[in-house]
Parts: sequence; structure tokens; C-alpha cells
Amino acid sequence: MSYNIRTREEYTRSYQNSVEKKTEFWEGIAKEFTWFKPWNTVMNCDMKEASFKWFEGAKTNITFNSIDRHLERKSEQTAIIFEPNMPNEQATHISYSVLHKKVCKMANLLSEMGINKGDRVAIYLPMIPELAVSVLACARIGAVHSVIFAGFSSGALAARVNDSSCKMVITADGSFRGNKTIDLKGIVDEALTQCPCVEKVLVAERTMTQIKMKNNRDYFLKPLLEKASEKHEAVHMDAEDPLFILYTSGSTGKPKGMVHTTGGYMVYTAYTFNNVFAYEPNDVYWCTADIGWITGHSYIVYGPLLNGATTLMFEGVPSYPNPGRFWEVIDKYKVNQFYTAPTAIRALAKESIEHVNRYDLSSLKIIGTVGEPINEEAWQWYNTNIGKKKCPIVDTWWQTETGGILISPLPHISPQIPTFATNPLPGIEPVLMDENGNESNENDTVGKLCIKYPWPSIARTIWGDHKRYKETYFTAFPGYYFTGDGAKRNKDGMFRITGRVDDVIIVSGHNLGTAPIEDAINEHPMVAESAIVGFPHDIKGNALYGFVTLKELPDGNKNIKLEINKIISEKIGPIAKLDRIQFTSGLPKTRSGKIMRRILRKIAEGDFSNFGDISTLLNPEIVEEIKNGRV
Ligand code: WT7
Repeated sequence: MSYNIRTREEYTRSYQNSVEKKTEFWEGIAKEFTWFKPWNTVMNCDMKEASFKWFEGAKTNITFNSIDRHLERKSEQTAIIFEPNMPNEQATHISYSVLHKKVCKMANLLSEMGINKGDRVAIYLPMIPELAVSVLACARIGAVHSVIFAGFSSGALAARVNDSSCKMVITADGSFRGNKTIDLKGIVDEALTQCPCVEKVLVAERTMTQIKMKNNRDYFLKPLLEKASEKHEAVHMDAEDPLFILYTSGSTGKPKGMVHTTGGYMVYTAYTFNNVFAYEPNDVYWCTADIGWITGHSYIVYGPLLNGATTLMFEGVPSYPNPGRFWEVIDKYKVNQFYTAPTAIRALAKESIEHVNRYDLSSLKIIGTVGEPINEEAWQWYNTNIGKKKCPIVDTWWQTETGGILISPLPHISPQIPTFATNPLPGIEPVLMDENGNESNENDTVGKLCIKYPWPSIARTIWGDHKRYKETYFTAFPGYYFTGDGAKRNKDGMFRITGRVDDVIIVSGHNLGTAPIEDAINEHPMVAESAIVGFPHDIKGNALYGFVTLKELPDGNKNIKLEINKIISEKIGPIAKLDRIQFTSGLPKTRSGKIMRRILRKIAEGDFSNFGDISTLLNPEIVEEIKNGRV
């Protein structure tokens, strides 16, 4: 590929070009793809207005580029390896030509079911091939996919389906996760009692459990797909037509539906996949994320397939049937690039090293991490035991909003510095902002991480709420994209991301806004008020600590803590459950009524050393009470 970066010189030259000749730089990369009609302008962006247009006027189709484009040379090559939850179940190898047929059939079926270009389709599926096929089929007909992680509860599913008024839900009878079977269809049925927008539900059969099917609404996929034609002409999409919506949590209870569009997202994810993972033909690449998150969208489905790669989809969990599963799968398929999350690394590092040493990991060339800052201990364990000190670690920093990786080491090019994401990729200009909102241009400094110029896969808006998009990301530092993260730049200009500086807490790599969790807690009839903060946790990175004030004292028989976690599980999902709950008679507040989370955070961490100035509090005496009641 002409856009490969494999040497330091290539990186330096590309980076320089990307800064000095932005238009030519991105145009050169975009030319690698198939466009049905060329663009009029490469970029037309305005950070102040949060308006981003790339490759305007061009027509393309990302599924065509991910599959059809490779058929001539790679039709028999494996596109997707499906490794099931149960190790004794036969794995599936889906070649590019078979994937093409499956996606065409699904595309025809969606059209027959009344889905048109621009319609929203919710996908609530486990990590089975139907998930990738549904995503690609939506994109093929121009329907906007909204994948909702299958660990979300019925309440969270309903809120997301309604927010973008999805016409259809694609789901499964159930899902397998380790030794558990989850009743997905039951969760969908419950959600849909609140979703009048949904006309049809397609059901993949995975667990073969007994489920209810509603007449004229619910249809099993298999018989319909059998009848569908395997010929389908990909719809010509405008470069700026929406490709998908993916929800992320934010500072209010309402999830933010980040909208990504077609052309820029395609160019950027393909470019970054190729270079960050130094993917070479015939490599087997494995990212352990779920397609329900952006990592799966960009680096299980689109990025790899756009490069004609072989991408592995794993249905299960790292601990089942034993904590050697990841390493077994790497050995089984001779995986060359492996990409996972710090929380998984920490959990597996706690297990006996025998689970690793039983397997041959010598196929590995590059290992990656994503989702939260990796601590030094986990980095060293990964480097020594998995990479055997010969595989570069790519600590990739990015976000749902950025569409693709922005800051990451490039293998054999960037220095290996534990916990550092090191260099920006070509086209990305990170800056650190000081207390006064000015760029700190010196090295050896810390600040709030912003990005100075747009890149092709920046989110275009929040579905239905451009004002919120602009306010959340473009007002704190006018003219810049504000990431919500803090970062450090060392004396050599290398970046290390230190963590969120806003009210998002990352638990086991899942991005959780405090507001939706507090809203859920406050639904308990006895709760007056609540505040959530994070505290360090060995495996999860952060865990949640809730400070809750009750309206009245509970009678002895009521287990309010359990009830609170039950509500959270129902409204958001088990991932958002609190590890600790403390009842208090009040919360520390400023005179304007804002909860001082800084103090709660310190108490949760068990750090009572210095609370800073608490004289501005309305109720300074509460600090002592909360401190003494720490659980
Ligand atoms: C937040 C975005 C990007 C896909 C998965 C998460 C944190 C992500 C790193 C990293 C330190 C990281 C940031 C970011 N984060 N990668 N390599 N080092 N922090 O996507 O759910 O949108 O979360 O994850 O805090 O803002 P997301």
C-alpha cells in the first residue's frame, strides 16, 4: 500500500507533509480507495462551529471498499475467523467471497424488510459473525447502524433505540459468555415495550433457547437469508452520509449518539490500522474488543477489512474455560498482531504464569493496548510474558469521538516507553492546555489534551443535538477539540495520557459517565441525592464509590445497597454497579450548589492528607462526617 509507514524516515516525512500540505496528504491516501465519483474538496472544516466535511461531493461505499474491492485477488483468503465461546465448538473461517455473499444476502433482506438509505438500525448482538455481517450490510445499503453493546440492560437499550428512532433491531435468541447464557431476546422484548419506532426485529439463532416471537414484528434470520439473493449492488453514498451512530456516556444522563460519516472514517481507519499494527499480507490479526464499542467498529471490522486483512472475532471471555484462553487462541491461529485492554492484562497477570507458558506465542509480532492508561506493572508483564521482549507494544490512545487512533507508538519506529502513547500519527496535532487555556508549547509539561486541527474521522455531531456536540468538545478551548483527558509531554516530546479530567470514569475499560449512574440511584424511592467517584482498583483500573444521602433512615430489614445496585444494573447494566456505597447525611457543596467531587474522590481513595480549601463549602462540617464513615 502506498500509505505504509514502516521506517522512521517515512514517519517523519509523512508527519511533515500532513502538517504542511494537509490537503495533498489526505488526498494521496484517499486515492487508494474506490470512489464512484471523485470529491470536489478534500476538507472543509471549522473547529469553532464544529463543522467537518471531508471529501465533499465524492461517492463511495465502505462495504464495497471492505469486501468487493478485494475479491479479484483475495476471494479465497479468510476475512473473518470466528472463534466461539466454547473451545470445543468448531471455529468458522469466512473467506472474502463468502463474506461478500453473506453481506449481499443480508443487504437484500434489509431492503425487503423496508429499510432504506438513512434509516437507523439497532444491532444488539453477541460477538457472532452475524454482527459483522449486519454492520457491513447496513453500510452497503446506506442504513445507519447503531450497535448497542449486548451487555447493556433493557433500559439502556430502549433509551438508545429511541434516541435515534431505529426502525429495526437485529438481535439473537441469546448469547454465550463463559459459562453463562444470557437471554438477549427477553431483554429486547422488554426494551421494545417502550420503543414505538421499532417495526421489525430480526433474530439470529445462537443459543437455541426458547424465546417468544411477536407476530408481524419478529422474524428468524436464517430462513429469510436462505431465500435472499446473493447479488447486490452497493449503494453509492456521499462521503458525508452518516455511516453509524455509537453511543458514549457524558456529563448528563442522556447518552451521546456520536455520528460518524462515510468517507473520512473509511480513509482514517484504514490508514491507521495498516500503520499502527504494521499489517502485512497473510498476517492474522486479533483485537479482543467487542464490536459494541468503537474499538471493534474501527479495528475488528472496518480497518482490517479495508486492508484486506484476516481479522479474528472472539465470542467468549478471557477467563473461560480457564485464564489461558487468550494465549491458547493466539497459538491456535498463529496470531501476529494482538490488541487488548489493560484491564484484561491486569486480570490475566494475576493468574499463574503456567497459563501463558503452556502456549507458543512466537507468532506474535506486535501487541497493543487500548481503553485506559496502562500502569507500568501491567505494561512490563505484557512486554515480558506475552511479547517476550521482542514485540513492540502499541499503547494506542483514542476515543469513540475520534473514530480512529490518534496517538500511538509505531512499531520499530517509536521508542518503547512504558505507559507512554508517545507520538501523534500523521495528521494529528495534539496540544496541552495550561490553566489559563493557553497552549503549553514547552516540553516536560502537563495539561489538558486538545487537538488542534481536524482529521478525517472526527465525529461530525451528536445525533439530534449539534448544540451539545459543540458545547461538549469545542467551547472549553475555542478553536480546538477538547478530549476530556489530561496528559503529560516528557522532555523528548512524548505523550503520556494520564486519565480523564471530566466526570467520566473508566471502569474495566468502559467509559462511564457519573450522571447517568447518579440518575439511576436517585430513582430509588429512599434516595435523596447521590454522587459517584472513581477509586483505584487492581484489576478494573477504577471502581465506583457512591456517596448517597437517604430521605429517611431505613428500617433494619431493607438492604438498600443491594437495591441500588439492582436499579443500576437494570437502567445501565452490570458494568456500572458500585463497589462501595456510603450513606451520609449530606454531600459537600459549593455555595452555588455544586457537589465538590474533588473531596469525595480523595476520601474514596483513602487519602485524607490535604483536602485543599474547603472554606468555600456551604457545609464544611460534612467532610469530617464522610471521612469517618468511609467504607
Ligand atoms: C477514553 C475514550 C478508544 C477506544 C476505547 C475507548 C481513555 C483510551 C487510552 C490509552 C490512556 C486511554 C481516554 C479516552 N483511553 N485509550 N491508550 N491510554 N487512556 O473509547 O470509550 O470513547 O473512551 O479512553 O480517557 O478519552 P472510549
